[in-house]
Amino acid sequence: MERGTMMFPALSESVDIDAYAREIMQEVGDRTFCASSPAHARLLDALDVRDGLAPVLHQMARKHLGYQGSLEDQYHIARLVTPGNSTEQYRAHFDSHLFTLVIPLVIPTAADGNEAGELLYRPNARRQPRSELENIAGKAWFKRYANRRRATQLLAQDQFTLESFAERRPLLFAGRTTLHTNRAVSPAASGPRLTLLAHFFDPSPRYGVGNMLRTLRRR
Ligand SMILES: [Fe+2]
Repeated sequence: MERGTMMFPALSESVDIDAYAREIMQEVGDRTFCASSPAHARLLDALDVRDGLAPVLHQMARKHLGYQGSLEDQYHIARLVTPGNSTEQYRAHFDSHLFTLVIPLVIPTAADGNEAGELLYRPNARRQPRSELENIAGKAWFKRYANRRRATQLLAQDQFTLESFAERRPLLFAGRTTLHTNRAVSPAASGPRLTLLAHFFDPSPRYGVGNMLRTLRRR
């Protein structure tokens, strides 16, 4: 919780990740995002994410983050970025969920300094928001880093860590303090990039908040 992030060991060899990845890629088709497709759900079970990891995170959320919501509040989505997709890049943001697990399945490479969708992230870029208003204000303030120029600047200043996921080690964001963004998957990349994003526990109030706040949150 103090460090804000945690890297897991490489994905287990007892699970045929590549077979799952192929199946999930078919299910996603020509979309960029696809929530809880059948193969995706089976892989989460094979990796013990829902029965093993989620209850541990739930306990941590209750103990350290004052979370009172349910264990079932999870959002599992696959993200498939094809080479040259220019909308999925440099969108620096904080997640709304208390924990996010990035599970890298298919990771392209790109020669000669071309970008291959690498993750840039900065743990503890802000403190844990104590209210919804602080959460939204933080999101708005850090919007200024949602472009290539500022992200590249921060990387050069060692304020971003670059993760290529070449070893396919899942990465966990603990708390809503990690600013993160992806580089482009350039047309020169060796292929598409497929990650599973497992989101746990959204503490934001769903009712009694003005439409304006909800709209802001989605930005
Ligand atoms: Fe995110």
